[in-house]
Amino acid sequence: MLKIGIIGTGWFSGVHANILNKMEDVCIMGICGSSKVKAEKYASNYPNATGYGEVNEMLDRENLDAVYICIPPFAHGEIELELINRGIPFLVEKPLSVDLDIPDEILKKLKDQPLITSVGYHFRYRESIDILKNELNQSTIGMITGSWMGSMPGVYWWRNQQTSGGQFIEQTTHLVDLLRHTVGEVKEVYAAYGSRSLPSRYEDVTVSDIGTVTLKFTNGVIANLSNTCILPEGDSKVGLDYYTDKGILQLGFDTLKISKKGEIAIKEDTTDPYVKENEAFLHAVRTGDTSKILSTYEDAYKTQEITVAALRSAKEGLPVKIG
Ligand SMILES: NC(=O)c1ccc[n+]([C@@H]2O[C@H](COP(=O)([O-])OP(=O)(O)OC[C@H]3O[C@@H](n4cnc5c(N)ncnc54)[C@H](O)[C@@H]3O)[C@@H](O)[C@H]2O)c1
Repeated sequence: MLKIGIIGTGWFSGVHANILNKMEDVCIMGICGSSKVKAEKYASNYPNATGYGEVNEMLDRENLDAVYICIPPFAHGEIELELINRGIPFLVEKPLSVDLDIPDEILKKLKDQPLITSVGYHFRYRESIDILKNELNQSTIGMITGSWMGSMPGVYWWRNQQTSGGQFIEQTTHLVDLLRHTVGEVKEVYAAYGSRSLPSRYEDVTVSDIGTVTLKFTNGVIANLSNTCILPEGDSKVGLDYYTDKGILQLGFDTLKISKKGEIAIKEDTTDPYVKENEAFLHAVRTGDTSKILSTYEDAYKTQEITVAALRSAKEGLPVKIG
């Protein structure tokens, strides 16, 4: 039986907890939040779970095999460092932080004290990504355009630059990560961010609400990713369009549209990538075989490097080289 602890009592902890709760030989033993009262209430949904208000208390009391970290971007650091000290594998939700300071420290510690880690870039686990990669292997990619157009998430920390990192670091990071997974490494970014609508609608918004980022890959491919969070709730457009010498590949939220010489095929995902992500991590914890984990801390760090470089480029108005 794998004994699991969860840190965070918000929306996304629930997504993971509900998946874990249905798995055989997995037991949620502890749920820790910044409020013990809320954590106890949250824990009451899971048969063997105890609620905690202090991470160290949970780690001292429960003999955990693995921990899930589902906290806002600004709150990372001490938790990961403590888990590395104790040798407890963790799955941490993206993004790794609001910048590179904490990830630098964690990465350095992981080099000295290696540990099984997984990062919540769940899109990598979609069925359609395997099909997409197969199509891309048989063609020459010219360029890619992508977008994450939506409304502002309601959680208090999202609208603040210091606590979320902004849309490109917090949200569009999924697309950056998918580009790295399907195209290769990025060598340079050039970004323009702006603010058009949110500050006039809410008092405490410090994140940009529009942005566009050009990415140059080491293999010569060019991509442009644009994002906005000004749309009314209910309106959204999220995806990547790959333009290749064999046709167009359009990756939507749960579909892949393949267009070749005017002939169109649509593939729909039938499995839940979050379940696959969880299974891959827990398989690694059980057996030591990490080959099914598609995003480790070390790999996700490279995605974070790009999104943080984009913010710097937007501030300086100049292209920024990666690495
Ligand atoms: N992979 C995905 O598809 C996906 C989707 C949504 C959210 N997320 C990520 O999950 C993370 C959490 O998002 P959410 O929507 O659940 O946020 P949320 O605000 O709903 O919940 C965050 C929780 O973290 C807790 N917390 C904050 N600091 C803490 C600390 N120091 N110790 C213990 N608990 C602490 C808060 O009490 C809260 O319960 C974010 O990084 C977000 O980007 C990922």
